[in-house]
Amino acid sequence: MSLLDLAPVIPVVVIDDVATAVPLARALVAGGLPVIEVTLRTPAAREAIARIADEVPEATVGAGTIRTNDDIAASVAAGARFLVSPGTTLSLVEAMDASGVPYLPGAATVSEVMALVERGIKELKFFPAEAAGGVAYLKSLAGPLPDVRFCPTGGIRVDTAADYLALPNVGCVGGSWLTPADALASGDWDRVKKLAAEAAALG
Ligand code: 3PG
Repeated sequence: MSLLDLAPVIPVVVIDDVATAVPLARALVAGGLPVIEVTLRTPAAREAIARIADEVPEATVGAGTIRTNDDIAASVAAGARFLVSPGTTLSLVEAMDASGVPYLPGAATVSEVMALVERGIKELKFFPAEAAGGVAYLKSLAGPLPDVRFCPTGGIRVDTAADYLALPNVGCVGGSWLTPADALASGDWDRVKKLAAEAAALG
């Protein structure tokens, strides 16, 4: 099954304190969102991926903000089961392809999308979704590129997610609204679970 079809929403999480990784993942899974993207934006990210992979087997944990070949190797070694990049370079897509795990390369323009389709890649991250044109932009892509599907991410919130999910070329959406920094800092896992449940109900 495709990564885009596992859950309607992929939480994009920034983990500062590795101790929050497992309770956070459990709260998201309990709320109905088992696919979790841990962004490589903090020193804790790789260890967070490893702990979730080890201790929360119900979750499918992946690494986001992949920017270098080293990011790919370290993420896969930590236990990442998928990779997401904000944009795509040739060497990055080659390395993601060689990694052996599913990946969503980022694209924001028609030419970037077409370059990936030329390589046989038809499931992409559309980033930064809202800033790059949002729902109207994706609707426009469905005409000339009907065989390409997206996970839009960037600026999407609970009240706009449904409009994206209604598009035929959107499999799921990603976003950070499910894991507010203050909820993580205070360990408010009930709030995270509620936000996840609200998002899961969109699917
Ligand atoms: C990403 O990394 O995909 C985005 O930064 C998430 O975007 P958001 O924080 O606007 O949801």
